[in-house]
Amino acid sequence: MLKYNICTMYFSPTGTTCTIVRRIADRLEKNAGEPVTIREYDFTLPSGRREAPSFNARDLLIIGVPVYAGRVPNVLLSYLNIIIGSGALVVPVVLYGNRDYDDALLELKDILESNGFTAVAAAAFVGEHSFSKILGADRPDANDIMLADTFADQVYHKLTMQNEFESVRVKGNRPYRKYYTPRDENGAPVTDFRLITPETSDDCIDCKTCAEICPMGSIDYDDVSRLTGICIKCCACIKRCPTQAKHFADHRFIRHKNELEEGFAYRRREPEWFV
Ligand SMILES: Cc1cc2nc3c(=O)[nH]c(=O)nc-3n(C[C@H](O)[C@H](O)[C@H](O)COP(=O)(O)O)c2cc1C
Ligand code: SF4
Ligand code: SF4
Repeated sequence: MLKYNICTMYFSPTGTTCTIVRRIADRLEKNAGEPVTIREYDFTLPSGRREAPSFNARDLLIIGVPVYAGRVPNVLLSYLNIIIGSGALVVPVVLYGNRDYDDALLELKDILESNGFTAVAAAAFVGEHSFSKILGADRPDANDIMLADTFADQVYHKLTMQNEFESVRVKGNRPYRKYYTPRDENGAPVTDFRLITPETSDDCIDCKTCAEICPMGSIDYDDVSRLTGICIKCCACIKRCPTQAKHFADHRFIRHKNELEEGFAYRRREPEWFV
């Protein structure tokens, strides 16, 4: 028997974070032995971030974000900072693209604990890199899913064996490492990387999918080749475009992607967790 209501929250432009967060929650529910309603908050789209939820001491929240530049995506900070913990337990989870999660898990845990949560466990899983089809290709895969179940089983065991919880220790350092910056061919930081945006080829069939799924709400519905706001390079529009019309053509983006693939695609990183 689990004494807590299971809740999930995730920001997941290309779906990998959602897969792992849901799997952990579903496995906890299975362990509990009776069907429970899992309260789910998907804050990927702007509409999901209009209001921040509140939790209390009867809740267990599994919350996941992708790692961007070794950190919690900075566009999410103002939203994450207003989620109310009020004594709830939390399991912070980060998904990263087989390079490294650096200080992102620690940062997410710190944000949540400063909102009144206690982190009972935490995990970093690997997802296919947003920029690539070969870096962390098709992950989370069957092995990752099995490990997500193992992690959830350990969390369940801890929750049923203990009544009082201390903040779990996770990997990472304070002050957090600076945001990982792409470099040009001379090793100099590409300072205007954030200004690079996707392009739209003639293969576009105007299905509007990209406009509907952009987490920044930045793709103009009437002219999908036009951006009306910022681009965080989450690659949702690119990976979900049915005709591959959306793409990054900027040479600095392609160089960075190639460098990541050359450096990190050929060794497999495994999930890590802290219970
Ligand atoms: C802007 C940006 C920065 C990223 N930085 C990192 C990183 O520092 N390390 C890493 O291993 N993966 C990095 N990734 C890859 C994502 O963390 C990874 O693909 C994750 O699984 C995406 O989650 P989602 O499928 O829920 O969108 C980055 C992705 C984006 C879009
Ligand atoms: S998802 Fe692709 S095909 Fe559909 S509107 Fe966007 S660019 Fe065009
Ligand atoms: S326009 Fe940028 S922020 Fe919007 S879905 Fe595409 S890559 Fe993501």
